[in-house]
Amino acid sequence: MHFDVLTIFPELFTSFRSTGVLGRAVEASLIGIDVHDLRDWADNRWRQLDDEAYGGGPGMVLQAGPAIAAVRQLEGDHGPGRTVLLSPRGRVLDQALVAELAHEDRLCLLCGRYEGFDERVSAILGPDEVSIGDFVLGGGEVAAMVVVEAVARLVPGVVGDPASVASDSFTAGLLDHPSYTRPVEVEGWPVPEVLRSGDHERIARWRLERSVEATVTRRPDMIKDNWARYPAEVRALVRRYAPELDPERR
Ligand SMILES: C[S@@+](CC[C@H](N)C(=O)[O-])C[C@H]1O[C@@H](n2cnc3c(N)ncnc32)[C@H](O)[C@@H]1O
Repeated sequence: MHFDVLTIFPELFTSFRSTGVLGRAVEASLIGIDVHDLRDWADNRWRQLDDEAYGGGPGMVLQAGPAIAAVRQLEGDHGPGRTVLLSPRGRVLDQALVAELAHEDRLCLLCGRYEGFDERVSAILGPDEVSIGDFVLGGGEVAAMVVVEAVARLVPGVVGDPASVASDSFTAGLLDHPSYTRPVEVEGWPVPEVLRSGDHERIARWRLERSVEATVTRRPDMIKDNWARYPAEVRALVRRYAPELDPERR
């Protein structure tokens, strides 16, 4: 998987692409993250990309030409890929979209600033517009980092233990179970006995129960959306904790 990020603030990505799990994945060539300064495609010697909005109003707009030229040049250099324009009006990112994006060989991420890009970037390039939630950030860079981190986790080898990805929240339509580490007791709160029992069957059962319990209490909307793919064991637990969430109940 190769990520090309287009931004007017490439320096924001310096430590992001070289730290922790992502840094190791880049080092091992499991993924590539190239960050490009959009100003390299500016058509003036001041490297200016923003201009006033037609119709007036506060805030500047990023010109279409440089962004379109940049995406096309990267496509020419590295082959076709999917273009993602980070935007608060885009499809809201969830694990299903992350999994979809992870099937691509190359993602080109366009980060807006100011009032965003001239509308003709969307009209001409037809990118996937992606939002990371119903709130407004100052720019698309943090949103692009969210996309890169979530997608990279699904690239084989990036997360050392694939079981860790398989048990992540949302992957199986359930929130993850709680986790504990040393010491055994913190301010009178002990680690549940079952987790120290060494009995792997009991531990797996406890974790599944806590996953279902967390999902029915914190995100009951997920139960309805994922019911069709739950195995019988999960359905039975939902009926135990919150029978009203069973869509088959009459
Ligand atoms: C200040 S925002 C522009 C907001 C724009 N006036 C609006 O209300 O839709 C500047 C840039 O930040 C990025 N951005 C802001 N919020 C975002 C979100 N929730 N998801 C993805 N990108 C976002 C986009 O790239 C956007 O072009």
